[in-house]
Order: sequence, then structure tokens, then C-alpha cells
Amino acid sequence: MEGHESAEAKNVSIIFSPVQEEAGALAKMLKVFEDHQVNLLHIESRSSTRGPGYEFMVECDSKCQNLSAAIETVREKSDYFNIISRDYKDNEATVPWFPRRIRDLDRFANQILSYGAELDSDHPGFTDETYRKRRKYFADIAFNYKHGQPLPHVDYTEEETNTWREVFRNLTKLYPTHACREHNHVFPLLIENCGYREDNIPQLEDVSNFLKDCTGFTLRPVAGLLSSRDFLAGLAFRVFHSTQYIRHPSKPLYTPEPDVCHELLGHAPLFADPSFAQFSQEIGLASLGAPDEYVEKLATCFWFTVEFGLCRQNGELKAYGAGLLSSFGELQYCLSDKPELRDFEPQQTGEQKYPITEYQPIYYVSNSFDEAIQKMVQYANTIPRPFGVRYNAYTQSVEILDSQPQLANLMRNIRGEFDILENAFKKL
Ligand SMILES: [Fe+2]
Repeated sequence: MEGHESAEAKNVSIIFSPVQEEAGALAKMLKVFEDHQVNLLHIESRSSTRGPGYEFMVECDSKCQNLSAAIETVREKSDYFNIISRDYKDNEATVPWFPRRIRDLDRFANQILSYGAELDSDHPGFTDETYRKRRKYFADIAFNYKHGQPLPHVDYTEEETNTWREVFRNLTKLYPTHACREHNHVFPLLIENCGYREDNIPQLEDVSNFLKDCTGFTLRPVAGLLSSRDFLAGLAFRVFHSTQYIRHPSKPLYTPEPDVCHELLGHAPLFADPSFAQFSQEIGLASLGAPDEYVEKLATCFWFTVEFGLCRQNGELKAYGAGLLSSFGELQYCLSDKPELRDFEPQQTGEQKYPITEYQPIYYVSNSFDEAIQKMVQYANTIPRPFGVRYNAYTQSVEILDSQPQLANLMRNIRGEFDILENAFKKL
């Protein structure tokens, strides 16, 4: 799964508002970088949400020697100053880099930990040249994908469709009795709208459009394994990174890694549920700019909920985790009396170690997605971070809330929403 941090050097982004709002303020600041021979890779300006003036964002090449000195000078000359970086650790006030706009997710494409075409020696397709070629084809599609483009349509081979048929047939036998209510509610809609059939592997594009209509979630093809930080950051934007290839035909009921069966049968149905979508986004928002050890805890919470979660419904235990809903064997095992069950509590769940290639010895149980959201939000508030974040769905961007004008503005928005609520109540 998405488990390791990338060692690749990353750039440093600085957001600042110059002290004196005079003409040429930005030019003066840029001169500081020039004087220190720091390369700037990107410059942008916008109206500040924190005060009357403007705000600038510059991205610097972190390999430049005098970067620290340049940053200190800019900090002194700024009313507002914030550093967002992946590897700039000179200063304890540094926040790890995170995407702020949905198109920033394009940057993850070349930070894949293992490219989709590289298979481990114990992978069922390791010695299969044709399969490896096919995996490279899928990896290249994802690698070249950019936000806003339609998701590439794939013509699956007969052999691939046969693998899908085997998986689809077996799993759909179990869903009525083993899957949670929400999964069973959405599944017929996917059959109706997205081509879910045993003789057809649905297209990511169709599924993504369907999810967008339901909850605003969208899919994005991914070329290989993302770091936990990058993978979770996508969820903050209601974007789910999805594989598009299918498992090796020699073992249709087994896969050592996520594949299109896992994504479309396990994950996709739940992302159409509003509460579950919000729960997933909360994990994503909590991860933005969080310290590494907390990102790991959040990834563990993700593992025990979105991947392997169980819930109680009408006094019965049901599966909602995608790892369960896409595994014929584990879906039966998880509801047997063999595994240990515990209540989902992010603080404790986030610490639990787990195996990746065998059935889980422990499952965590929630009473409802809404209850899980509450717990997740409370836990997120304990993560050290010098600002609040809020997703702005109009601009598809994450707002960093760290000033009074922003909070006042947010308060006005909430009051407006509250008026709508009050009015509607009166009319009921
Ligand atoms: Fe998954």
C-alpha cells in the first residue's frame, strides 16, 4: 500500500505579503532572491485573503546554497510569511509542502515510489512479458495524465475481461449478505449508469463522472505507489488516485496490490455515499501539512477504515472497507468469529501495526460513518499544525486559515448558511 516517503529533493514554496504596499513591492522582494542567487521556479500574485493588499507565492529551487539567507530577508520584510516545503528542515516553523489547488495534484505523477511496470519477483506476473508490457502501458497513461483532461478510455483485452468476470461473479454473490447497506444501495446504480457487468470492465471516466454527480469525488489514474502524504492529500480535494490495470490472470482471486477490481468494486461504490465521502475527505484535510508521524497515523486510520473497516448495521456486522469488498476470501473471513474486533478510535487505531499481504488479525468497527467523522475531526484537532484548513469547493482549493479577516469571512459564510437552514425550517 501507500506506505513510504519519497527521498527525492523537493522545492520550497514561500507565501508572503510585503510590509509596505507600494508599487514595485514584489520586484524588491524578487531582487532579494536574485541577490542571493536563488532560482525561482514559479511566481504568482493574488489578492490577499488576510488583509487589504496582495499576497505572493514564490517557489524556490531548494538546492540553492543561499536559500536560508534569502528566506530570512524576505521574512523580515513581510507582514505575513509562511513556508511550505517538503524537505526544508532548517526551521521548526516549516510546514511540509501540500497541494493547495486541485491541479497541484499533477505534481504527484512523477513522485511515484515504484513505477507500475516494475513487479516484485514474487508477483504472479513477474515472468510474463506480455503482462509487464501491458502494465507499462497503464503506467504511462497515468504518468502523462493532467488535471482537467478526460480519463483515458482503455480497450481491455478478452483475457482481462475474463479475469474481471471471475472476480465480479464471485464477489457479487457475497455483497447482499456481507457488504454494508451503503454499498448495496449504490451498486445497482453503477450497473445502470457505469457499465458494471460481468462481461465489461467499467471505464474510470464513467465511474468518475458518476461519483462527481453524487458527492463531488473524482478519480485520477495513478502510475504506481504514492507516498502516504501524497495519497491522503488527494482525498482533501475529493480526488481518489485509482489504478486502471487488472491483476494477473493466473490468480484471479488474488492480487498483491490494488488493481481496477479493487478500486471499482471496493472503493468506488462507497465514494458515492455523502457521509463516507466526507469521512474520507476529513482524513485528507487532516493530513495537509501535518508532521510525518501524524501522516503515518492517519494512513493507518485510513487502512483500518476505508480499506478494512467493518460497521454495525441493524445489530449485524457488515464490511465497508474496499480491501474486504474486493477480496472473496477475506470478505468471508472478516465476518467469521476468527478475527479480533475493536471499536474504531483514531487515537488507538492510528498506532496499530498491520500485515499487508495476509488477512488482518484485527478489524476496527464503527457504528456509522457520521460517528466515524466526529471521531476523526476530534482527532484531527490534536494534530500539531499552526493553522486551520478549509476546502473551498468553488475554487477547488485549500484555504490556509491563519488570520482574523479570514475567520471573520468564514463566520459570515456560516451565518449565511445558518440563515438558509433557519428559513427552510420555518417552511417545513
Ligand atoms: Fe485501496
